[in-house]
Amino acid sequence: MSLGEPREHHETIGSTNERARELAEEGAAHGALVTADEQTSGRGRQGRSWATPPGVAIAASLILREFDDLLPLRAGLAVADIAGPSALVKWPNDVWVDGKKVAGILVEAREGWAVLGIGVNVAVDVSALPPDAAAVAGTLGRDESEVEATLTELLDALETRLEQEKAAAITSLRERDALLGKSVRWDGGEGLGAGIDDSGALLVHQPDGTTTALSAGEVTLTT
Ligand code: BTN
Repeated sequence: MSLGEPREHHETIGSTNERARELAEEGAAHGALVTADEQTSGRGRQGRSWATPPGVAIAASLILREFDDLLPLRAGLAVADIAGPSALVKWPNDVWVDGKKVAGILVEAREGWAVLGIGVNVAVDVSALPPDAAAVAGTLGRDESEVEATLTELLDALETRLEQEKAAAITSLRERDALLGKSVRWDGGEGLGAGIDDSGALLVHQPDGTTTALSAGEVTLTT
């Protein structure tokens, strides 16, 4: 598997995910990549926006034609791999370092393809982001000259994580579980994070003493 070829790079674009979706519909090959120095209407999950200021962040959207239902979690692991040993994956697919969100992942899948969109704050001045983003955002704290090299690292890590046997990926996730023992709320309940099961679902201990398994895609966490 070779990820990142062919690559379409834009100085400025609305959303790399939007462009990658067009290319996927037109038949682009597995591994094709859309990147941008800046996004003017970057998309986040749950209809939110995602800020990519020029030249200081990764905005990358990969077209994949082979993937499994762990894709967002595998992507989170790959970002955590390059972010360092203290990086945690906040199920289902954010990456946090020192209590701050350094990366977001947005997977958009249809029959036959998925677009894996990844935004990583490599050298972002967090205080200059829109207020709602600045409140939670962190950065890898690298220099802006390192954005391209960081993308190369990320693609290498993704190749490894996307090919990794499922059980081994789940083991890695358990080691980087940001929600373990933490308060979790979703549209339907609340409780304490109690690990990740063998399918990749988030386990939550509920106040009534029961444990429930939340599947990514079926629930929306509010914390
Ligand atoms: C989130 O945490 O809400 C997900 C953010 C995903 C942002 C990335 S940046 C590259 C790609 N293009 C987009 O418009 N969004 C994703």
